[in-house]
Amino acid sequence: MDSLETLFSLKGHIGLVTGASSGLGVECAHALALAGADVALAARRVERVEQLATELTRAYGVRAVGIKADVTNDSDLDQLLETCRGALGEVDILVNNAGISPTGRAETLPRATWDAVLATNLTAPMMLAQRVARRLIELKRPGRIINISSVLGLVASSIYRLSGYVAAKGALTNLTRQLAVEWAPYGILVNAIAPGWIPTEATEGGIAKGQNRERMERATPLGRLGDASEMRGAIIFLASPASSYVTGTVLSVDGGYVAW
Ligand SMILES: NC(=O)c1ccc[n+]([C@@H]2O[C@H](COP(=O)([O-])OP(=O)(O)OC[C@H]3O[C@@H](n4cnc5c(N)ncnc54)[C@H](OP(=O)(O)O)[C@@H]3O)[C@@H](O)[C@H]2O)c1
Repeated sequence: MDSLETLFSLKGHIGLVTGASSGLGVECAHALALAGADVALAARRVERVEQLATELTRAYGVRAVGIKADVTNDSDLDQLLETCRGALGEVDILVNNAGISPTGRAETLPRATWDAVLATNLTAPMMLAQRVARRLIELKRPGRIINISSVLGLVASSIYRLSGYVAAKGALTNLTRQLAVEWAPYGILVNAIAPGWIPTEATEGGIAKGQNRERMERATPLGRLGDASEMRGAIIFLASPASSYVTGTVLSVDGGYVAW
């Protein structure tokens, strides 16, 4: 690896990003395309991912396709991978990004809310990862899986009532380690990114505003919230040859939030 190009290029690879209709997913998609990967973009709001696919092709000259999928639905996942295969080829970089973050006091959290957050933030990444890995193992091809976890997969929240979210992200973080161990013999590297506080549609509903915003800034050594584009470097690193000896790790992109 003797040049920046060979360290970080994703040319010849095919990435799939879930939850690419807004927020961090959009940035994950930009990152893969910027490094030269063809990309499939999945979400329920299909018009948004179709629009993003057009933008990525125009900006980076890569092939891109937007596909409608609900990640909590197994047949949607099968259809999603089938459509990727037909349009672009075999996915070898999976970014499990789709997620929800419903708040509510732990003592009264409705069962339906708990079930929904576990289904979206934990079960769906597992179901998609196992489908991608199974195929890569059959084809004897290496690959990368990047789970978008959270700082709240590492520590509890002092600010928000997020028991379901924290439970799901904690489990996703440790699942990342287990999958890394099980799939290392096949050359499939599995890592997680733990973002800190980054304003997106998910956080617009008050999470990043006013007093909460100030508390979050104070809780972050860098003294500010993140910008969604600050996800790009971590994604390119974990998808590229630069991280060929990195698996089972959690890369925090959090302004130092979990450092103290
Ligand atoms: N922003 C932060 O501060 C922060 C911090 C730590 C971790 N994270 C994690 O980063 C990821 C992205 O969050 P974000 O802040 O970018 O939130 P966001 O703007 O609300 O985006 C969430 C994405 O997930 C998709 N999604 C949700 N449920 C889905 C389902 N059932 N099927 C398919 N797609 C689904 C949404 O697409 P559709 O609605 O179109 O389906 C949307 O594209 C999440 O996993 C979140 O937990 C975010």
